[in-house]
Amino acid sequence: MRDVVYQKCIHPGCGATAELTATAFACPRCGGLVDVAYDWDRVPVPASLRHFETKWADRFHPLNFSGVWRFRELLPFAPEPSFVTIGEGQTLCQPADAVARYVGLHPGRLWLQYEGMNPSGSFKDNGMCAAFTHARLTGATRAACASTGNTSASLAIYCAATQLMRGIIFIGSGKISYGKLSQALEHGVRTIQIHGDFDDALRRVREVSRQLGIYLVNSVNPFRLEGQKTIMLRVLEALRWQLPDWVVVPGGNLGNVSSFAKAFQELFELGLIPRKPRLAVIHSTGADTFFQLYEKWGLRWRQGQYDAAAIDAYYRELDASGRKPDTLASAIEIHRPVNLPKALRAMAWCHGVVRAVPDAEILDAKARIGAGGLGCEPASAASVAGLRQLVREGVIHPEEQVVCVLTGHVLKDPDETVAYHTTDRAVFDAKLGRRGIPSVAFANHAVVVPNDLDAIIHAIEQNA
Ligand code: F0G
Repeated sequence: MRDVVYQKCIHPGCGATAELTATAFACPRCGGLVDVAYDWDRVPVPASLRHFETKWADRFHPLNFSGVWRFRELLPFAPEPSFVTIGEGQTLCQPADAVARYVGLHPGRLWLQYEGMNPSGSFKDNGMCAAFTHARLTGATRAACASTGNTSASLAIYCAATQLMRGIIFIGSGKISYGKLSQALEHGVRTIQIHGDFDDALRRVREVSRQLGIYLVNSVNPFRLEGQKTIMLRVLEALRWQLPDWVVVPGGNLGNVSSFAKAFQELFELGLIPRKPRLAVIHSTGADTFFQLYEKWGLRWRQGQYDAAAIDAYYRELDASGRKPDTLASAIEIHRPVNLPKALRAMAWCHGVVRAVPDAEILDAKARIGAGGLGCEPASAASVAGLRQLVREGVIHPEEQVVCVLTGHVLKDPDETVAYHTTDRAVFDAKLGRRGIPSVAFANHAVVVPNDLDAIIHAIEQNA
């Protein structure tokens, strides 16, 4: 009889399986991406999502405190004593009327899911606790990732807090914000900086992990995506189990969107939700592979029979033109998203759309989000900038209920925030001006005054 939990090729035409404890994270037959698959008939599933409310009364139990593991019945890939938690997932999902006004939605229709409250300051911890749990099942002692900064910060904090594995991170040269780099250094992972960008680093870390038998925690690891499903479960929880019409999420390596769609597909198939929300993935125009392929080239999932030759042709074109990803939203500065086929499937499952927004709009959206009371990093604000565009286009109606995922904390990248609000032209130009952003809409300039009481009082009254 088949195992209750196993890994399975995402391509329906292949469908080869691998054991739960396999660590290649690739289909043993065709080399494609794999899912964590469950025989749901043989695992106990709650009759209703309201079941999870009972966990709230028992928050002294670390697994019920965790915003990931309190939903463990929906990611039942390991026995309970193996679960790794450092208290991840204590996040907020709240209405944001000021931001709703900015994007053109009616009051009460926009909610922001704020993942900056995780232990390492980004959504990555949802997946890292699940990857560590799987790694423990495999007996791994070392873990590695390539990163634009947040995965490495998360890996570092889980290594330090649990002492279960030693961490090794691969980063591109000059491609990581200081907030994130400082986390990796502070928590003590071995940091390998290579000449190249994230795509180069990811290729290398996959080679190195295979050769040295190091456990890989990039989002090609399907166990990470199991943990990230709970971001959507917490959204539903905050909405009292009502479904939003749309979930809008920034796209980098396309792990989140793949994970969210899997969550909704499973809930739907288990009869726990009556329909699925639509998904919108937002890129920066400086790193917009999925937008180009899905919206411009018309690439579709087609039950796994997607046009792989078109993807190759697109990458050949990128290489031939020497175009490198280039965006101020450094977390999503990625040209070769590893989860692209899963993201295509996500679009099919959840009737999705993809958009790309310019950096200037991302930064303006970020300032509006900040003025509304939640601090996020640029990549996160792509979701709100993209939503604004979709409302303008009439794809999203002002009455629809929308959740934007804010993936990382504002302190991850203070340099960009300061450059946005600065009065110092040199500071502005060094970050924004040199990328062709001549001015910004919502700068909150500091007022420079002499050290003089009257001048200080005058400055305060003028700005009141
Ligand atoms: N937002 C933030 C803050 C991120 O750090 C990332 C990815 C994304 C969005 C994109 O998510 O890959 O699931 O589409 N950061 C990775 C990293 C690549 O290395 O930290 P995705």
